[in-house]
Amino acid sequence: MSEFGIKVEGVSHSYAGRSGASTVALKETNLEIARNEFHALLGPSGCGKSTLLYLIGGFIPVQKGAIRTPAGVVSAPGPDRGIVFQNFALFPWKTVLENVVYGLRKQGRSKPEAEERARHYIKMVQLAGFENHFPSQLSGGMQQRAAIARTLAVDPDILLMDEPFGALDAQTRRVMQEELRSIWRNSPKTVVFVTHDVHEAVFLADRISIMSARPGRIEHLVETELGMERDDGVIASKRYVELCERIWALVREQAISASRGEH
Ligand SMILES: Nc1ncnc2c1ncn2[C@@H]1O[C@H](COP(=O)(O)OP(=O)(O)O)[C@@H](O)[C@H]1O
Ligand SMILES: [Mg+2]
Repeated sequence: MSEFGIKVEGVSHSYAGRSGASTVALKETNLEIARNEFHALLGPSGCGKSTLLYLIGGFIPVQKGAIRTPAGVVSAPGPDRGIVFQNFALFPWKTVLENVVYGLRKQGRSKPEAEERARHYIKMVQLAGFENHFPSQLSGGMQQRAAIARTLAVDPDILLMDEPFGALDAQTRRVMQEELRSIWRNSPKTVVFVTHDVHEAVFLADRISIMSARPGRIEHLVETELGMERDDGVIASKRYVELCERIWALVREQAISASRGEH
């Protein structure tokens, strides 16, 4: 692997419980993601996907091991990393436009430039006409799209996404998947995309890591090798169908061992 995008080195994470008992969410996790790779993180619910993503984002402190990016060792959130949370986090007191403009102004862009760029991304997520609405006036899926526009607009080197399309209907979801792929192609960046949807992972990613049931580790790494173009032709291809089946079997294996409490 040439240049690296993210290195996760022996990272463990425990959450302290109320009665002194702690939950081990990640155990000795290792993962190297290449620069500008589109990487999907798959695994059963509760296996530590969000925990790993938030650690990379610098939102929770690294207790054991280290996480590196080209910008250095991760110890806090930074402008090199943009995140789309599972539960959209918009400023409720700002309009859609103001929410997207916010990060752009922080990057030092002028107001007219920030607004023009914000409008472009708002349109891309199909929210044109809703620029002056407040989050409370939008559906969950629309709020999520606004949050996606906000993060994409600042064009971070590393894009971290936690089940970002989970709240969207099937058609919008597909449009957003295709948009995301093309944004990534036009403006290469390292992407870590958390999902529990096997089809979504295969459609989007170059490589997929499948996490074990809690405590999470990377159990399997699969290269999709589906080429750059992702469209209906890819979905109909033999390779796509076989990959989905193979990966589904690997995820199911982990989900079964989770339900048996084997970990
Ligand atoms: N803030 C927290 N406090 C205590 N336990 C947590 C907290 N966040 C997550 N956990 C636990 O850590 C494990 C991994 O959680 P998470 O990373 O959210 O998994 P995933 O995103 O794969 O569903 C789960 O068992 C979850 O209940
Ligand atoms: Mg999660």
